[in-house]
Amino acid sequence: MTSAEKGVVYLVGAGPGDPELLTLRALRLLETADVVFYDDLVPEQILALAQRHALVTSVGKRCGRPRISQAGINALLIESARAGQSVVRLKSGDPLVFGRAGEELAALRAAGVRFEVVPGITAALAAGAALQLPLTDRNSASKLIFCTGHHADGKQAAPLWRGPLPTDATVVVYMPGRDLERIARELAEAGVAGDVACCAISHAATERQSWVAARLDGLAKVECGPAPVLLVVGRTMAPLLAADRPEMLAGLFVSAAGTAEEVDPR
Ligand SMILES: C[S@@+](CC[C@H](N)C(=O)[O-])C[C@H]1O[C@@H](n2cnc3c(N)ncnc32)[C@H](O)[C@@H]1O
Repeated sequence: MTSAEKGVVYLVGAGPGDPELLTLRALRLLETADVVFYDDLVPEQILALAQRHALVTSVGKRCGRPRISQAGINALLIESARAGQSVVRLKSGDPLVFGRAGEELAALRAAGVRFEVVPGITAALAAGAALQLPLTDRNSASKLIFCTGHHADGKQAAPLWRGPLPTDATVVVYMPGRDLERIARELAEAGVAGDVACCAISHAATERQSWVAARLDGLAKVECGPAPVLLVVGRTMAPLLAADRPEMLAGLFVSAAGTAEEVDPR
């Protein structure tokens, strides 16, 4: 298997948080890199896989207040590679999904630094697996839409979606924030019917996962679990509301570790 090469930056997806959901390539690179720069959502158990002498540094940005600017992160990546180190840039989920990877790749390209992208399991896929529900369905969901309610700093808040949403889509909202009332309103304005099922899942595919489900017309009253939270909306989520699936209404999960555990569905 490939070891991390000196002078190369690897943009690596860490997946949703369970170390067993890392790719083999991500694991091998983590185990052999000289330097690891990671984001806030990457848990300790994954960072612990880095080799003992690696320099492991957080470059996370919390709640929009930058601890280190994006330009600063780009500079760190370039300097470390130019100093002859092998560099893993570790991002939660998949590095190319809502992770500002475009800016880092552009900076590396402009600097002439070699790089590679290693995909990871994005939160939407982890959520489907955690809920044991498909995200597409040949009868009700032939489209899968990933979107976000979060916008670049300094930009005016834009709507989640412009125009009508396809009725045969599962919509996954990354970074939905705590204001589910606004999101519910915007989805309704985009034509999503009031009886469509919505699920806010917190810490999907980790030991802390929990979820709460509601119809769109009840979503505003929902209080979701702690961040990170993902909102999944669509007919594919209907079993979460079905009275004949009591184990789902009770929020019964099979955790990443494989043991059933009860969570508070609220
Ligand atoms: C900056 S985005 C990064 C997304 C990441 N690149 C991915 O592919 O999953 C962070 C958002 O992803 C979602 N997220 C990431 N990990 C999650 C998890 N384990 N459970 C639920 N949502 C998660 C949340 O919406 C969170 O606010």
